[in-house]
Amino acid sequence: MDQIRELPQTHHSLDGFIPLLSLTEALGALLVILVLVWTTYFRNGFSWRSNPTLEFNWHPLLMTIGLVFLYANAMLIYRTQRNLRKRRLKLIHAGKMILIMLVTVIALVAVFDSHNLASPPIPNMYSLHSWIGLTTVILFCCQWVAGCVSFLFPGLHASLRAAYMPIHMYFGVAGFVGAIASCLLGLNEKAIFVLKDKYSSFDGEGVLINIIGLLFISFGGLSVYLVTQVRYRRLPMPEDEVLLSGTG
Ligand code: HEM
Repeated sequence: MDQIRELPQTHHSLDGFIPLLSLTEALGALLVILVLVWTTYFRNGFSWRSNPTLEFNWHPLLMTIGLVFLYANAMLIYRTQRNLRKRRLKLIHAGKMILIMLVTVIALVAVFDSHNLASPPIPNMYSLHSWIGLTTVILFCCQWVAGCVSFLFPGLHASLRAAYMPIHMYFGVAGFVGAIASCLLGLNEKAIFVLKDKYSSFDGEGVLINIIGLLFISFGGLSVYLVTQVRYRRLPMPEDEVLLSGTG
């Protein structure tokens, strides 16, 4: 925060923020819609434990909504809602992360069920996708706990909070990049599993899967750009410190 105060005003400019944000949100919405179209139209829709093959379809859909779309929006909240009070922003940020965790747990239950309830059962955690995916989820949970302790626990010294902030930002972005990487690996793996030889003959489903992959990359790339640009950071407001310390 001190770094921001010291920035010359020229380093803070919102030029291009709204058009870039609108493009990012539009690509994110299109991404979620296309994953829904893919799972519904090409993969026969959704079920729960009575049909493990269809239960699987919750996995890509909920991971895309939670660990990709909502995660990007939760990271960007300090920039998109810059006029709200800091304490409110922190609570919304942490609250959205809880929602993402719930959605992620359901997505994980769906995929583990789809392996364990298949006949014969499919082994768990053998693929690179599953290793990177689970690592991302564990990182996300650690990041949430550390963030809550550091920024919502009233007794912590301001200097400790300030020291932890760059680490929190780095691992926040790292977790998001991990989620995009997991989605790309999972998507490609699924395309090869289900399409087999049809993938190499430019089958319609294969092309849709590739377009979804490109959307993961463009949505992810733009989100990381928006969240790492120093010039787009929310400038501290005079009441921030008072609200944080609870004094005044
Ligand atoms: C951040 C997003 C994601 C995370 C954290 C994640 C995590 C995981 C984990 C932990 C497993 C292992 C389940 C088991 O072994 O029983 C798994 C399996 C699987 N996931 Fe994902 N996943 C994500 C997104 C996706 C997406 C978008 C797809 C696209 C179809 C996908 C496709 C698959 C497939 C096909 C499997 C079963 C084969 C395997 O174990 O690799 N995943 N995922």
